[in-house]
Order: sequence, then C-alpha cells, then structure tokens
Amino acid sequence: MSKRRILVTSALPYANGDLHLGYMLEVIQTDIWVRFQKMQGNECYYVCADDAHGTPIMLKADEMGITPEELIAGVSERHQADLDDFHIDFSQYHSTHSDENRYFSELIYNRLNKSGYIKRRVISQSFDPEKEMFLPDRYIKGECPKCGAEDQYGDNCEVCGATYSTTEIINPRSVISGAKPIEKDSEHYFFDLPQFEEELKNWTKAGHLQEQVSNKLAEWFEQGLEQWDISRDKPYFGFKIPGTEDKYFYVWLDAPIGYMASFKKLCDNSDLEFDDFFTKGSDAELYHFIGKDIVYFHALFWPATLIGSNFRTPNAVFAHGFLSVNGQKMSKSRGTFILARTYLEALNPEYLRYYYAYKLSSKIDDIDLNLEDFKQRVNSDLVGKVVNIASRSASFVVKKFDKELSSHCIEQDLYDEFVSASTEIAGHYEDRNFGQAMRSIMKLADKANQYIDEKKPWQLAKEEGKMQEVHEITSLAINFFRVLMTYLKPVLPEMAEKSEEFLNIESLNWNDIKSPLLSHQITKFKPLMTRIEDEQIETMIESSKR
Ligand code: 2FM
Ligand code: ZN
Repeated sequence: MSKRRILVTSALPYANGDLHLGYMLEVIQTDIWVRFQKMQGNECYYVCADDAHGTPIMLKADEMGITPEELIAGVSERHQADLDDFHIDFSQYHSTHSDENRYFSELIYNRLNKSGYIKRRVISQSFDPEKEMFLPDRYIKGECPKCGAEDQYGDNCEVCGATYSTTEIINPRSVISGAKPIEKDSEHYFFDLPQFEEELKNWTKAGHLQEQVSNKLAEWFEQGLEQWDISRDKPYFGFKIPGTEDKYFYVWLDAPIGYMASFKKLCDNSDLEFDDFFTKGSDAELYHFIGKDIVYFHALFWPATLIGSNFRTPNAVFAHGFLSVNGQKMSKSRGTFILARTYLEALNPEYLRYYYAYKLSSKIDDIDLNLEDFKQRVNSDLVGKVVNIASRSASFVVKKFDKELSSHCIEQDLYDEFVSASTEIAGHYEDRNFGQAMRSIMKLADKANQYIDEKKPWQLAKEEGKMQEVHEITSLAINFFRVLMTYLKPVLPEMAEKSEEFLNIESLNWNDIKSPLLSHQITKFKPLMTRIEDEQIETMIESSKR
C-alpha cells in the first residue's frame, strides 16, 4: 500500500491554566495513534496549539495585573513542558494568538461573508455598567427563580437543577464588579449555519463520525440548526473582525482555525505544502481528536465553516469520553483533580500512557482512572510480565554467552505466532481500540513467560551438556521481548528507547520483527521500569489537595 499522508490534531487547551489528567487522556490517545501511523511507514504530522483568546483569559490577566499576552506566554511554556514530559511528540505546537491564525481567520471570514453566510442583527444582552462589558452567563450570579437558592449562576441552578435565562434570575449581580447588570443592545455577527443543513446531514452520515456521535447529531438536526453568534463586543482578547472597529471573533470561531495555523507554521519551517493538505479534494487525510463535549463545534460548525470557505473537510472527528478518577468527577477536595505536573512529580508518565491505552476504545464511553487498579495493572502487566521476560533471560545471555544471542531459533513456529499477531494488533491500533491491542500484547507476554517457566533455563543450566539449549531458550525469550516492545512502542516510547539500547539495535521497527535477532550482541540489562508504590500515589493525591 502506498504511503498515506496524514494530519492529526488534538483539541487546543485554553491558555488560562495548567493541564490536568483529563486533557492528558486526549493527547496520549492522539500521540499513540500518531506514533503508530509513523511506525507503519506513513507520513504523519501532529499539530496542536494553545487556545489563547476569550473573556476568561482577558479577565484572568486583568486579575493578575499582567497583559493577556504575558499570561498566554507563560502558560504556553508550562503547557509545552508538561506535554513534552508526557512524551507527546508534536510536529508543531503553536498558539491561536498568532499571525498565521489571524491570517486564516480573516481569510475564512471574508470568504464566508462574500458568499452570504454572515448575517448581522441587533441583540440585547446583560451588560456590566461598571466594568463596561457584556457578561457571558457564567459571569452573572443571583438567586434561583425556581427554588430561591442563593449564589447561583446566570443560566442554571446547582441546587434544584433548573435552567433559565439570565433575565429571570433574582437579584442578579456581575461576578466581576458586583454591579447589577443592565440589558443593552448591540449588533452581532452570525454564521448562517442553517444554510448548510443538507450538506451537513450528508457529511455526518458519510462515515466521518462514530456511531454514538452521529446519533447525537441526528437529534440536533431534529431540534433544528440555528445561526451561530461569532462576534463579541469589546473589551475582548481576540482578533478584530475585518471592517469593524469594536467587534471581535468569538474564541470558538478562531480556535479550530488554529489547527490550520499551526500546520501553516510547520509548513513554513519545512518542505511541506499547506495546500496539499487543505485544498478541496486533497488526498491527504485529516483527523481531529476531541472530547465528546465539543462535538457540536467539530461536527457542525467546523465542517460548515470549511465548506463555506472552500476548504476540505476532515476525514473523521474522533471523540472520546470524560475522565473520572476513582469513579467520581475529579475533585480538588478529594485530591483527584490532578495536574499533569503534580502527576509527573510523583510518577513515571509511561505508567499513565499504558493505563490510558489499556482503557481506551474507539467509543465515547467515559474512562475511569481507578488508582488502585492503575497500580495493579501497570505493576502486573508492564513490570510483572513484559520487563520480567527480559530481566530473567538477559543475565544468562550476558554472563554465560558473552552477550551474544544464539545463532539458531529453537522454536520457529512459536516465534512466528508472536509475529503473526502483528496484523491483528495493528488493526486495533488503527481503529483506536487500544485496549484490545494491549490485551492481545499481554496475552503474548503471558505466553512468553509460560514458555520460560516450562523450559526452566535456570535448572537446565545446572545440568550437564544443556548449555546450548539454555542459550537458545533465553535468546528466544529476548526475541519475544523484542517483538512485544515493538508492539508497545507507540504507547511506551521511553521504555522502547531503553529496550533499543539493551537490544543494541537502532530502532524497534514494525517490519523488522519478521525474523528474530540471531548471533547478535546485546548489552547489559538495566532495569527498564520499576513498580508503582502506594506512597507515590499518596504523594500525588496529597499534593493535589493543596
Ligand atoms: O474546549 C476547549 O477546551 C477548547 N479550548 C477546545 C478548542 S479545540 C479547537 F477547536 F480549537
Ligand atoms: Zn434552584
């Protein structure tokens, strides 16, 4: 098959806070898929960026007494350090507050406007007369009009569950200044989504979405599409709408365009051609990994924006479920709202990469990080099974056979069984059924350990004239380990690298496993991964409570 050209994205994290383990689920899922594609010999690029615009970022900078630019610069640095330490291998990490993004946002808007997809009308909204700004719903609080509970958000009550409009709330006040909001008129710009209904209906049924997602979309179509408000009044941190003095693009207009901007930046620093990937009819593949909460934006607004501005649409949007910790929503008081950095200070990132892989499927079901199960799963699978195969065999090869693997494969059929699992495992990776891939790999790890248990090389070594057999058995075990680590490489890049050193090979490649390493020098075995201890998890939980 010819080499595929693939561009992949993860959702852009907001630049107003540190990354947590929920977001890591998404980037780990994407990164595994990208690393797998590269191992298959495909040309695959992975771009992302900070989502740097919007009211919360503007207000946070205000609160800190710095400019939004200063805020997003600092956050971007921290985000990238966290992502790097989790081995997320981006081709490009950029920002939506960039020249490239301004260029594409204006280009797309101008095209949409020219084609009659932008409508203008005056709407009335809550306005903070002291701060002199319009107030998004979450910046208004008051008493619930249904049950009277105090201190409820402008649009819903956390006590009785009622939803209402901000005008119904009793004694409303601005969260920012405390002032009583007034109603004020302003002209807004709308993207005329209903004009795309037919095309979107076709697109959403054409195999670009997971089944659970298309079902959700069918419901939304039934409710009817509405025009989408893409403008915000000043003060706002974002890009000014061309031809206006005080209107800005709503953050969600320029956020997905950030995928293009980041890729453009990559093109500018390499030989890649932007148009090869984004022109209509392009045979390059485009995939967006996202959380299920932002499906509306990616499966309706985004394809419509692309169609309306004459760009290609994505091949697929892959949504995943939410993350819970110990069966519950992440919570600061329970110490389960865990930041990426807090995790990294206590634990090896590859533990989490493996556990997430083990739990992930192509579905949008939620995923639970049960910390006890996490510890047991990692200790049993990675340390107890995989590393064990190498550690129990390496010392023989190193000490008794001068680090050289045997010249003959003692059980070719068994070795071939390990190799022939490759098609099935690759299929699971391709389909994002990582959990199934991990289970298939662990079945092989069990088989390898059983083989060693049955052959008992440590006993044979004590018997007269059995050293050749000992050599061949332990060499085969190391070859099993090589195959397993090749399969695990997309998930465990660092352990794979250490294994490459141990095996004294340049790189664990999917295609190389067909034949075992024979008469090959390995190096001294160093521990590849240690067990998770309870104290490490406790440290992480305690630090998360602060
Ligand atoms: O929901 C979020 O966290 C957004 N920052 C995701 C943006 S994804 C893309 F569209 F840019
Ligand atoms: Zn209520």
